[in-house]
Amino acid sequence: MKKYLFLLLLAAGHQAAAQATAPLSASQGKVKLTFALAGGRPTYAVAYGPKAVVNTSRLGIAFEGGQGFDGPLVLLGSEVKDVDETWQPVWGEVKNIRNHYQQLTVHLRQPAAPGRRMDVVFRVFADGVGFRYEFPRQLALGNFVVSDELTEFALPADHQAFWIPGDYDTNEYLYTKSRLSAVDNTAQVKSSTEIAVREAPDAQAVATPLMLKSDNGLYVNIHEAAQVDYPAMQLHVDGASHRLTARLVPDAVGRKAFLHAPSRTPWRTLIVSDKAPDILASKLILNLNEPNKLATTDWIKPMKFVGVWWEMQIGRSDWKYANSLDTLDARGQLIPTGRHGANTANVKRYIDFAAAHHLDGVLVEGWNTGWEDWFGNWKERVFDFVTPYPDFNVQQISDYAKSKGVQMIMHHETSGAATNYEQHLDTAYQFMNRYGYPAVKTGYVGRIIPRGEHHDGQWMSNHFVRVAEMAAKHHVAVDMHEAVRPTGLARTYPNWMASEAGRGNEYNAFSIGSPPEHETIMPFTRFIGGPMDYTPGIFKLTNYEPTGQRRVQTTLAKQLALYVVLYSPLQMAADLPENYEAHPDAFRFIEDVPVDWDDTRILAAEPGDYLTTVRKAKNKDEWYLGSITDEKPRTQPLKLDFLTPGRRYEATIYADGKDADWQKNPASYQITKQVVTSKSALTLRLAAGGGAAISFKPVSK
Ligand code: NOJ
Ligand code: CA
Repeated sequence: MKKYLFLLLLAAGHQAAAQATAPLSASQGKVKLTFALAGGRPTYAVAYGPKAVVNTSRLGIAFEGGQGFDGPLVLLGSEVKDVDETWQPVWGEVKNIRNHYQQLTVHLRQPAAPGRRMDVVFRVFADGVGFRYEFPRQLALGNFVVSDELTEFALPADHQAFWIPGDYDTNEYLYTKSRLSAVDNTAQVKSSTEIAVREAPDAQAVATPLMLKSDNGLYVNIHEAAQVDYPAMQLHVDGASHRLTARLVPDAVGRKAFLHAPSRTPWRTLIVSDKAPDILASKLILNLNEPNKLATTDWIKPMKFVGVWWEMQIGRSDWKYANSLDTLDARGQLIPTGRHGANTANVKRYIDFAAAHHLDGVLVEGWNTGWEDWFGNWKERVFDFVTPYPDFNVQQISDYAKSKGVQMIMHHETSGAATNYEQHLDTAYQFMNRYGYPAVKTGYVGRIIPRGEHHDGQWMSNHFVRVAEMAAKHHVAVDMHEAVRPTGLARTYPNWMASEAGRGNEYNAFSIGSPPEHETIMPFTRFIGGPMDYTPGIFKLTNYEPTGQRRVQTTLAKQLALYVVLYSPLQMAADLPENYEAHPDAFRFIEDVPVDWDDTRILAAEPGDYLTTVRKAKNKDEWYLGSITDEKPRTQPLKLDFLTPGRRYEATIYADGKDADWQKNPASYQITKQVVTSKSALTLRLAAGGGAAISFKPVSK
């Protein structure tokens, strides 16, 4: 009887399929999504008002051994539902996040045996669309191996693109601005020798978040949300047709993903608007992630920190303690070089500085054994994450930090040996708990172990989640360097507070650096998925290293503005204490600026050109503004109507000096104060490669 009913239902499904010729759709505001079967093949299209965002584009997933969802399918049915809810992030750019969308779920089935079923779920927001493939529990589908994802983004024209190469192991490239038809990453990959591991076999592949601008005035960002148990998606660009096709980062044996139904892919995301600031304000990616999974979150604290770090980046001291693992004395002990940065006395100096300036934490790199031969040889056992060098007295340092009210931040460089790290995770976090370290910066410089895996493949994507989960068990917050670029998972794991996964300020220490436009592109690309540990705040902008060749390509005032325009709940004051002590007036802004906010407004933005952001401090009526430009000087008019009406504020304006210029006079700045209200207007003058920062504090009566 049961079997008979099932057959009947199947037949009904067939009928629905035969009748389903009309396309299905969902919409929200100006955004409209259309789904259709074309010759049995699933397709979608997205429009923004009268303008096409993506033309009819293919959907599908191919399996190894065939019988995947790459051929014709029949429609079993569909549902539409509306959702409108508001949630509060544990930390972030705003206090409340509205999640308002129309969802279309499409149930599909293979027409012939084994008749496997797959759903495509679309969520349509006022600022874009997310969609993913879901594989329901079914007898016809157990284990399966994804060989390719067929998702396309058929763009209607040859847009301007802000792109980096689609590399399996790194996102630390400089951005190139070009038409889609001109995408070719060969030169970028070849010349970026400062990046330790590069593998970008497809010259026409770009990474996401990919920022696009159309000639008819649309800003479009393509990325993904909730990348879990699946490789990162890159995009192959067909220059002639402007069709982008998903390319998944392969694993060590050339497969893309090993899955078992029920399962689902990450969301593919399109953020769209005719205004550039809307792209930056979008919460679409966070909304598509699962809510917080952690039982408690009161231990997760946004932090500003200094670190025994930049001094190694600029060659003033070393991570390593001895010259090599073989420089041993008669007792078999490493012979110190005398250049080791992470020594107790030096660490105390940073703790004193943090305490004196009300900064929350101190990061110390190079504290543990292993740095004499740490990367480049694809070695599995380099670090054990619990053995300090002889001159780093962990107990004394943690007691001292505690006595000064400063938190210590741990450093776990894995040199890519994820297996070794996983074996030590539990003891490493117990060690942190014992000495009172609430946060860890991890790192994956070098080729990955398991050998053959890539930083951005399925195995590592699971590793990063395992690290976040294990850290959470021990009440540890994480900042992952050289991890896969974020996809909003900080909503689900709010202790995964930041990642690097992009070209940070440190490139100004050891490479040709990043040009002034870099920080005007980053918010539209790397930051779309979540916070970045960019390490802003370099005050000594030139001649900071022995060869005198390197320089930061911004003014000093722009370094201050970065604390507002580049959001991270873990934010470093990256320069040396003495360089801050040389400019106590400018350093005041770094001391004051919060790392957690009630509200954020993007006042002006254009990718690659300029950006002005203002944010309201958490639980305080104080506002902080950052404004930056690329290599062009600009004036930026400001209306202060974000301030509470009827209230007087003291605005402290940290601006480029009259003669400031990132090349000729980067350290020239001027600080002025004035009383303003919500009715006031200001005009900022930004130098070439410059910026401005403002704090607004209520005037006490
Ligand atoms: C690369 C990281 O990005 C950097 O911040 C760190 O200092 C080095 N790896 C050493 O772990
Ligand atoms: Ca790095």
